[in-house]
Amino acid sequence: MKQTLTTLMSITFLTLSTNVAAGDATAGQTKFKSTCVPCHGSNAEGMVGPRLAGQPASDIIFKLNEYRAGKQRGPMTYMMAPMAQGLTETEIKNLAAYVSEL
Ligand code: HEC
Repeated sequence: MKQTLTTLMSITFLTLSTNVAAGDATAGQTKFKSTCVPCHGSNAEGMVGPRLAGQPASDIIFKLNEYRAGKQRGPMTYMMAPMAQGLTETEIKNLAAYVSEL
């Protein structure tokens, strides 16, 4: 019983610390360059897709989660939704950390 509780507490702690931790902008940059540049531009300045540079990380995370959840956002959601659906939560945070710093 004691062991179960300890395990549960460590899982909770790990989950909480992952959620609170800020994204890794360097990892975000790597992912951005390999995946997002063709549509959002090499500096996230916007091309086919909107400008992402300078948007607050929390906005980027919110929007990507909406696409991931299958929510219709703009008229070109059909282009972006499959991209967002291929991202993990960590990748989303890292990407948000990167583009918000541009
Ligand atoms: C195939 C082209 C394409 C690729 C690749 C792509 N996007 Fe998009 N993205 C779009 C389009 C088009 C929109 C606008 C969709 C709409 O109308 O809702 C968009 C919208 C967004 C938005 C919402 C912007 C806003 O202000 O409303 C975010 C955030 C975003 N993309 C992030 C990313 C990230 C991060 C990647 C790389 C993992 C990526 N996109 C890859 C085309 C793309």
